[in-house]
Amino acid sequence: MKRILLSIFLMAALLCLHYFVAGSRTAEAAKPAAASCQACHADFTSVLPKGHPPAKGTGLAACTSCHAPDLTGIAKKNAFSSRMHTAHVGPKGSLDCTACHTWVPNKRFGLIGQKWSWGAPKKEDMDLMKEIFISWANSGHTDTLHAKAGIVCTQCHGKELPKADDTVENSRCLTCHGPMEKLALKTEPKDFKGRNPHKSHLGDIACTVCHKGHRESKVYCLGCHQNFQMKIQGAAKP
Ligand code: HEC
Ligand code: HEC
Ligand code: HEC
Ligand code: HEC
Ligand code: HEC
Ligand code: HEC
Ligand code: HEC
Repeated sequence: MKRILLSIFLMAALLCLHYFVAGSRTAEAAKPAAASCQACHADFTSVLPKGHPPAKGTGLAACTSCHAPDLTGIAKKNAFSSRMHTAHVGPKGSLDCTACHTWVPNKRFGLIGQKWSWGAPKKEDMDLMKEIFISWANSGHTDTLHAKAGIVCTQCHGKELPKADDTVENSRCLTCHGPMEKLALKTEPKDFKGRNPHKSHLGDIACTVCHKGHRESKVYCLGCHQNFQMKIQGAAKP
């Protein structure tokens, strides 16, 4: 009896494996054909948020008719963009960028079916962006805190595509988290008021001294004041 059950179980497992492999092959094959969402989503109803208006079509155009892509790079959250990326790149999915984007190295980077371009990334720029997308989706660093809040790259970096050695100025962070006085008030400790990361004898310093975009954040004060009890978000180890 046990044996029969075992072989039934094995057969079922093999069958599942077969479907799994066949399924991912279809997805694989769909990559170059691009923007056909149907390879994986028979219809959109099951993946759209509750209460979302119905979307007709098989490709990205089904979405961009209402969700006009953002070319301005203003500091405002974009739940559509962030959910499209968290679902399909990074640990959850491994869809290549070119399933949805057009990319001609050194010339353009846009969306399939649309003429405009966000910039002209080289191969190294794309490799770095891909790496950072994975960090953004999953690392637990400052980038991931923002992915969860619906904030993608351009909302921090502005409309130019980010590339090596780029940083983000305090003024950009403060568009969403400021003004500085308000932020400092939020983090003023009850007991030792002077131990405030945002108001100290260091004066005006870059946010990135402590809040690293895509690396482990660190409280700079602790380098000199080991006895201070201070914790920072986005300090997850890589
Ligand atoms: C290779 C397969 C594949 C392709 C092609 C694909 N998706 Fe997905 N999509 C997935 C998977 C897997 C998930 C579920 C990820 C998860 O667990 O959240 C998903 C999730 C989603 C979600 C839900 C996101 C959320 O945050 O809840 C939406 C919306 C979506 N896809 C839209 C699209 C659109 C639009 C296209 C075409 C431009 C597309 N997908 C192409 C595999 C695919
Ligand atoms: C008929 C217009 C329309 C179409 C077509 C459309 N959307 Fe939306 N979508 C909206 C509106 C309105 C909202 C709510 C306001 C907003 O967030 O922009 C929304 C919000 C969203 C959100 C964010 C929900 C949240 O977390 O706040 C996601 C994700 C989304 N849409 C995905 C899609 C995808 C994927 C497609 C294409 C398959 C699509 N939408 C097509 C109108 C549309
Ligand atoms: C499932 C489709 C899909 C995949 C896969 C995808 N993108 Fe996107 N991407 C979009 C859409 C749609 C937009 C436009 C969103 C908007 O502006 O509202 C966009 C916008 C962008 C932007 C600019 C705007 C922003 O919000 O920051 C960048 C940069 C970008 N994608 C990079 C990438 C990279 C790099 C990859 C691969 C690691 C990738 N994307 C994979 C659909 C996708
Ligand atoms: C919360 C704001 C924020 C978001 C969102 C964000 N970044 Fe960054 N990024 C930064 C900061 C800050 C730096 C400066 C370096 C550091 O502190 O890690 C940076 C640096 C970079 C650099 C230069 C890195 C190097 O090694 O020279 C690239 C490239 C980059 N970001 C790409 C991206 C991409 C791609 C996305 C979207 C997936 C993104 N960033 C989203 C804040 C952000
Ligand atoms: C487009 C708006 C926007 C920009 C630009 C932005 N953030 Fe954020 N940030 C948010 C939102 C929204 C959250 C989610 C939590 C919240 O609502 O405060 C968040 C979360 C955080 C958190 C975690 C706070 C918590 O309570 O969980 C830190 C730390 C942070 N941001 C720092 C920064 C720094 C440093 C920069 C600049 C490099 C920056 N942010 C740029 C909107 C933004
Ligand atoms: C000297 C290190 C340091 C610098 C510089 C710094 N921060 Fe922070 N930040 C911290 C620490 C530590 C916390 C956690 C404080 C807490 O939880 O009380 C924090 C918390 C935050 C939070 C979450 C506040 C909340 O609601 O609890 C935001 C947002 C933030 N920082 C933004 C910024 C911005 C924007 C800048 C630049 C203008 C900046 N920080 C500069 C160390 C720093
Ligand atoms: C480069 C080293 C250094 C860094 C970094 C530093 N401090 Fe200090 N700090 C000192 C020195 C030196 C003194 C004066 C001697 C003392 O009293 O310990 C001091 C004194 C203080 C005092 C008053 C004395 C006490 O221990 O209560 C406070 C409060 C303080 N620092 C807060 C901060 C905060 C908050 C940060 C981070 C935003 C910071 N410091 C970063 C070196 C540093």
